[in-house]
Amino acid sequence: RRRHRIAVIAGDGIGKEVMPEALRVLSAAQQKFDLPLELVPIDWASCDYYAEHGQMMPDDWKQQLQGVDAILFGAVGWPATVPDHISLWGSLLKFRREFDQYINLRPVRLFEGVPCPLAGRKPGDIDFLVVRENTEGEYTNLGGVMYAGTDREIVLQETVMSRFGADRVLKFAFEQAAARPRQKLDVATKSNGIAISMPWWDGRADAMAQHYPQIAVEKHHIDILAARFVLQPQRFDVVVASNLFGDILSDLGPACTGTIGLAPSANLNPERTFPSLFEPVHGSAPDIYGQGIANPVAMIWSAALMLQFLGEQAAHDAMLHAIEHVLAHGPRTRDLGGLANTAEMGAAIAALV
Ligand code: NAD
Ligand code: IPM
Ligand code: MN
Repeated sequence: RRRHRIAVIAGDGIGKEVMPEALRVLSAAQQKFDLPLELVPIDWASCDYYAEHGQMMPDDWKQQLQGVDAILFGAVGWPATVPDHISLWGSLLKFRREFDQYINLRPVRLFEGVPCPLAGRKPGDIDFLVVRENTEGEYTNLGGVMYAGTDREIVLQETVMSRFGADRVLKFAFEQAAARPRQKLDVATKSNGIAISMPWWDGRADAMAQHYPQIAVEKHHIDILAARFVLQPQRFDVVVASNLFGDILSDLGPACTGTIGLAPSANLNPERTFPSLFEPVHGSAPDIYGQGIANPVAMIWSAALMLQFLGEQAAHDAMLHAIEHVLAHGPRTRDLGGLANTAEMGAAIAALV
């Protein structure tokens, strides 16, 4: 078997607390399945590094990641010391763009044993994928402030969508839908208010739908789509969205399943020209950092998605089963209503792999 080289970036805040748990579970999987893993620890891409060097990453960061198959990423951001747009554009968003990770795949699932904030929902009722466009759209640094400091100050922030960029994420989402039993795809839009890009996005979705006549496609304006996530989560199977809408939906969906502390993500370069990046949906959670109470599941599940992407399906399945078992029977962290700390939950999952 080919070796899998994995760069490990813990980052900031609870990224530093949940990453050791993912590594503990990975190590258990490595032993059980004899995985050819080679971990490459990275000590940059953090606000601590910024404090010392005045930038988030060394100039030769790309060379240092030569030959890496995947990046396991905790979280970046420490707004008390570094403005978020500096730390994120200097690290995570740079990886997504320069490594052309144009798919952000974010599963949303209600697990056995996890209290659901939505009344009357049980496991099986919420089980869908958010496919988020990950390299363009509303996330840009194009624009500027004019007449700054005057009462005529104007700010302009551009959105960029390309046919190439929209078509490839839509195609990926249709393929995901086609591979699932329900044959259904929901498309986030806002073509009523965002009068140029969103009607165009709808048009690209319509054009792609021509190639998938078996898939039932439904478009929803983002406002009512958010409401439907809460009111009718069972109607979703695969949801495709632009960068910003996908960002919002991928916190809302997991919140509907109890906690964002469970939600994983896969930032994919499906062609494997560049490394893909696997990280929790959540951030560095400064409000709980240092207490050892962060839920490690999002990080561990992200590591499992990484193994799946690397072709290690059996190890992925074992990790997911271990997660399912611990969510159902404990120990559980506080966001799940339990009393366990991060390490206890991580160790329990590792022991079941
Ligand atoms: P956040 O996701 O860090 O935290 C939001 C809330 O969820 C907090 O109350 C936090 O305590 C809770 N939470 C998050 N993860 C949890 C976990 N695993 N277990 C239990 N509770 C958890 O979002 P935020 O507060 O908006 O952002 C904090 C920082 O993280 C900012 O700097 C932000 O830019 C950054 N951020 C980074 C990423 C990333 O690296 N991918 C993602 C989101 C936010
Ligand atoms: C996420 C995060 C990032 C995003 C931030 C930290 C830039 O919220 O991965 O969802 O908006 O993409
Ligand atoms: Mn987000």
